Amino acid sequence: MSMFEVKFNDYLEYLKYHKKILIEGSELEIGIKKRIERYQPEEFKLEETTVWSFPERGTWATHRGDYRGNWPPQLVRNLILRYSRPGEIVLDQMCGGGTTLIECKLLGRRAVGVDINFEALILCWDRLNFNIGGEGVSQADIKLYQGDARNLNLIEDESVDLIATHPPYASIIKYSRNRSSNGDLSKVSIEGFLEGMKEVAKESYRVLKPGRYCAILVGDTRRHRHYVPLAFRVMQGFLDAGFILREDVIKHQWKVRKSGERWKGLAKTAEECWAEEPFGKRYWTDFLLIYHEHLFVFRKPKKGEVLDKLSNSMKWW
Ligand SMILES: C[S@@+](CC[C@H](N)C(=O)[O-])C[C@H]1O[C@@H](n2cnc3c(N)ncnc32)[C@H](O)[C@@H]1O
Repeated sequence: MSMFEVKFNDYLEYLKYHKKILIEGSELEIGIKKRIERYQPEEFKLEETTVWSFPERGTWATHRGDYRGNWPPQLVRNLILRYSRPGEIVLDQMCGGGTTLIECKLLGRRAVGVDINFEALILCWDRLNFNIGGEGVSQADIKLYQGDARNLNLIEDESVDLIATHPPYASIIKYSRNRSSNGDLSKVSIEGFLEGMKEVAKESYRVLKPGRYCAILVGDTRRHRHYVPLAFRVMQGFLDAGFILREDVIKHQWKVRKSGERWKGLAKTAEECWAEEPFGKRYWTDFLLIYHEHLFVFRKPKKGEVLDKLSNSMKWW
């Protein structure tokens, strides 16, 4: 799939005939301009450790948190402030409801957003439709494309200062369930997802400037009574593409739905179930809830950078 630009005018045209968009079974209203109470968070502090937790999702500016599987604005604000400078270009090639793009606009970064789903891009323009003076950037500094993160053909080599993205891992939320959407990584098998993410890693490496950062948030899953370490396998794909790992941040995941929810009528403790029937059905579904995701921050080596020291230290692993 080749990229094509979705302009602000396309959004205005869409608005003439639609008042909602439909994504992953939920209808989201568009075209309603709410008064913005605060353009910036009331309290914000840069994270200083490798464990990040945001129990309350930020709601400043036009962040509404209604796009399923969106990431917290606090998270991407940390990435933007730590790894880019005002005026630089930030790419989110799976931009979803536009959290990254809104933060770029508020923090004066130029932004490029790509998503496989056209409606997601309409939603992004809807949420980017506000004016902010001062340090913010204008609509002209934001470009949105419908496209596939595995083939960013309209983005030049080594033109991006920071990548911050959040893939839809392995069929947990299906963003384009109601229509065919070739290339949607939320609709493929685990193996298909991992293969797709290897391509995403290569494209990320191609478009990023040497010496700059690429951050990606991925979680794990369970299949057939096993824990599937998706995140580490995605990480390996990025290392194989040539990146170096700078950080592995554990992001606390809030509001996780219990995988064994169908058991909720059985108000029994694990011990009681065990006593009734050791290794019984209940025992096998009584997994720990997965309460974390991995936020990997990779660096693309500089041109001619000597990596010998790194390779030597890696020998200890
Ligand atoms: C987890 S969501 C991103 C949410 C976003 N960070 C936010 O805060 O709204 C993942 C997005 O990836 C998109 N996607 C799936 N496969 C894709 C692909 N091959 N290329 C580009 N986008 C893709 C989905 O449509 C979905 O919007």
